[in-house]
Amino acid sequence: MKKLENKVAIITGATSGMGLDTAKLFLSHGAKVVLTGRSQEKLDALQNELEGDFLLVKADAASLPDSKTLINQTIEKFGKIDILFLNAGIFKAAPAGQITEELFDNIYNINVKGPIFTVNEAVPHLNQGGTIIFNTSVSNVKGMPGVSVYGSSKAALRSAVRSFAAELAPRNIRVNAISPGPIETPIWSKTNLTEEQIGGFAEGVSGQVPLGRFGKGQEIANTVLFMASDDASYITGTEIPVDGGMAQV
Ligand SMILES: NC(=O)c1ccc[n+]([C@@H]2O[C@H](COP(=O)([O-])OP(=O)(O)OC[C@H]3O[C@@H](n4cnc5c(N)ncnc54)[C@H](OP(=O)(O)O)[C@@H]3O)[C@@H](O)[C@H]2O)c1
Repeated sequence: MKKLENKVAIITGATSGMGLDTAKLFLSHGAKVVLTGRSQEKLDALQNELEGDFLLVKADAASLPDSKTLINQTIEKFGKIDILFLNAGIFKAAPAGQITEELFDNIYNINVKGPIFTVNEAVPHLNQGGTIIFNTSVSNVKGMPGVSVYGSSKAALRSAVRSFAAELAPRNIRVNAISPGPIETPIWSKTNLTEEQIGGFAEGVSGQVPLGRFGKGQEIANTVLFMASDDASYITGTEIPVDGGMAQV
């Protein structure tokens, strides 16, 4: 059964990883999907890869004007917004003593400022019964060396979920987060760590996951679909961990 027939969904950071897996799943469930990314080349490559009714929008998640353009283009093409999945994000690590202002601003602009201002732009257009889903991280509740800036950026989103949920409940707009543990996606090849450091980090993290493995983008997409659909009609203000038990057991 198709769960998102006639729904319009925006997914930020949908040129790879969980965002792309979610976009494909949403399209297969009948949604009209707006996918964003910062690389025109990656967006162009999706033109022939995707099937269904979709729109590709070049938008830097950290840019307020781009957020405005994204919402305007969505309304122009599809006339409404039902689902907003704020997924775009970056991971970079730095231990205390090596944190630079550049690293901090880069992470916070993309992971926190961008999503909050995208909600700000989208809210007037969100349908009654609509839903917003943030992509947080296990690191918002679990301390890991080098992850203070990234982890705190995701904790900021977790907090924003509660306030937006309170604000938007009177319009029957649900606001939630999914909180992934370590997931096999291209994010790992985009960090500021060497391959050796990534290997060490991955090994250390895997050892902390009761299910003993990295998760898959598809496993995140399945959870986002649940959160976005009417199956989750009485769920708001919360965060669903999809982390193999890492922060739970
Ligand atoms: N993978 C994990 O283990 C893990 C765990 C917990 C949480 N998360 C969160 O999950 C989300 C998705 O990450 P992923 O693992 O699927 O990684 P990914 O494959 O790198 O996907 C991230 C997406 O966001 C895009 N993006 C990054 N910065 C952007 C910007 N400034 N403007 C527009 N788009 C931007 C990326 O585009 P480019 O290709 O151009 O970079 C890509 O399409 C992130 O918020 C991440 O923090 C990941």
